[in-house]
Amino acid sequence: MSDHLTVVDHPLVQHKLTLMRETSTSTAVFRQLLREISQFLAYEVTRNLPMETKRIETPMEAMDAPTLAGRKLALISILRAGNGLLDGMLELIPSARVGFVGLYRDEETLKPVQYYFKVPDALDERMVIAVDPMLATGNSSVAAIDLLKQAGATNIRFLCLLAAPEGIARMKEAHPDVPIVTASVDSHLNENGYIVPGLGDAGDRMFGTK
Ligand code: URA
Repeated sequence: MSDHLTVVDHPLVQHKLTLMRETSTSTAVFRQLLREISQFLAYEVTRNLPMETKRIETPMEAMDAPTLAGRKLALISILRAGNGLLDGMLELIPSARVGFVGLYRDEETLKPVQYYFKVPDALDERMVIAVDPMLATGNSSVAAIDLLKQAGATNIRFLCLLAAPEGIARMKEAHPDVPIVTASVDSHLNENGYIVPGLGDAGDRMFGTK
């Protein structure tokens, strides 16, 4: 654990993650568990949101009560698997703005290429949380964060379910200013860039594709 990396080791998160990893877990249950874990991760990643006070009346007396300050935060889903984290997070932070980044890998250059980019305005004034369940090689995460920075974001966090040491190192090198929140750091990547032990292809498992 460091300033750059927070592993949410809460027992409920770890229990739910174990259920998600199991091959026998159905698509419906996988999706539900991801939604539930996303809320614990959202709790952690928003821990330092700026606060202010406002004057309110309770039935007993007036008080200066804490409330969120500043512009609404922006959740950015890295397509397509990032979408599995969005709904749960939006339940906790209903007024968040939402953006999407779509990248595919060029099979010749092996570099990520942007095919979709739609984000909220005034990114420079918001906390921006980029979400993708799997931080594997880090190539698409680094590219997505490059794009968010080009669009003006300066206060960015990255939220994922599982991370590989290789992806964490790549992110730390490219974007040392972007803290990562995850539920687990797994062992390594295999030769196909999958996280081991991992849970397989997160997109396929949440959407029931192959
Ligand atoms: N993306 C996935 O869905 N799973 C992995 O293990 C790595 C990248």
